[in-house]
Amino acid sequence: MRVLLAGATGYIGQAVLRELVAQGHEVVALVRPGRRLFLALSDESLNQTPDELSDAVTVVEADITANEDWAASLPNANAVVSCLASRSGAPADARLVEYEANRRLLAYAEGAAVQHFVLLSAICVQMPRLAFQREKLKFEALLDESSVPATIIRATAFFRSLVGQVERVRAGKPFLLFSSGNTTACKPISDRDLARFIVSKLASPPSNTAVLPIGGPGPALTPQDQGRLLCETLGQPFRTTSLPPEMFDWIRWLISPLGLVSRRMRDRMEFLRIAKFYATESMLCWDATAERYDAEATPEYGDDTLQAFYAGLASGELKMLERGEHSLF
Ligand SMILES: NC(=O)c1ccc[n+]([C@@H]2O[C@H](COP(=O)([O-])OP(=O)(O)OC[C@H]3O[C@@H](n4cnc5c(N)ncnc54)[C@H](OP(=O)(O)O)[C@@H]3O)[C@@H](O)[C@H]2O)c1
Repeated sequence: MRVLLAGATGYIGQAVLRELVAQGHEVVALVRPGRRLFLALSDESLNQTPDELSDAVTVVEADITANEDWAASLPNANAVVSCLASRSGAPADARLVEYEANRRLLAYAEGAAVQHFVLLSAICVQMPRLAFQREKLKFEALLDESSVPATIIRATAFFRSLVGQVERVRAGKPFLLFSSGNTTACKPISDRDLARFIVSKLASPPSNTAVLPIGGPGPALTPQDQGRLLCETLGQPFRTTSLPPEMFDWIRWLISPLGLVSRRMRDRMEFLRIAKFYATESMLCWDATAERYDAEATPEYGDDTLQAFYAGLASGELKMLERGEHSLF
């Protein structure tokens, strides 16, 4: 099948690109002008020659947010996968990318009679307190109203979001926790497993919009569990320092007068809201009746464990991944 992949340069987008190629799909990868696409042509596990790989992937440079005619030169695709995401989470960027860019992608899909639109979203939209979550939900609603069959994948925390303290712990410093480190949890998922899950959905477009929360293989891990795992793997004693999550509110309150005159400061304030959110909320399914997060109800997928991932980082077999701008430590 021919798949138009938006966000192909991102963390999950790159893994989806690789998985699409590995499964023999033809990919049209949409990238911003001047951006490089990372697909190791020498990757032996793809089992394809460089010529076969370059036949399988067509890179289209287009500025989807600025150019009305961005889709003019696109070949027709059978399916669209969007791994687009605001890199900063700042309100204006979130509107532009999470909503506007995806809306334009959907308009293309409708015009080109695309048979399936797969959207990578996030499980945290169940608690929409942040600008980027509200923009994601706005687009999810638009997608639901569209005539294009849609699958919305609401993923839990990525491995990449849980590597921020590797260097501190390696240097013998204590693992930082918010409060006790036991009040939140997630089922971390690797980029490879999530990409496999996304690509596995392509074959069967749902008749009604499907919303699929998804985590990695369980059990759910608290920050305490993650810290213990990391310290054990790096051969360090498990020592922790607890920080109050309210510290993000205090800093936000301190800089709020500047927010009245500076957009940069308002964006900083939104970042502090994002940080507080991740310090206090679980990335698991929310049970609205019981008013609690429910690890059991959070579906699991894949084989890659955080423990094996930390071990790979410790041995040098895996490289430290570039993290987004939502990094906390
Ligand atoms: N981090 C987590 O733990 C987590 C958990 C669950 C769900 N999620 C969700 O997963 C999704 C993908 O995350 P990710 O980590 O793969 O994102 P990412 O690495 O930040 O990649 C974002 C992608 O969107 C593109 N993009 C950003 N701004 C753009 C613009 N103005 N115009 C065109 N393209 C633009 C980027 O292109 P460039 O390379 O050109 O910037 C990149 O390809 C997000 O929706 C996120 O909310 C994240």
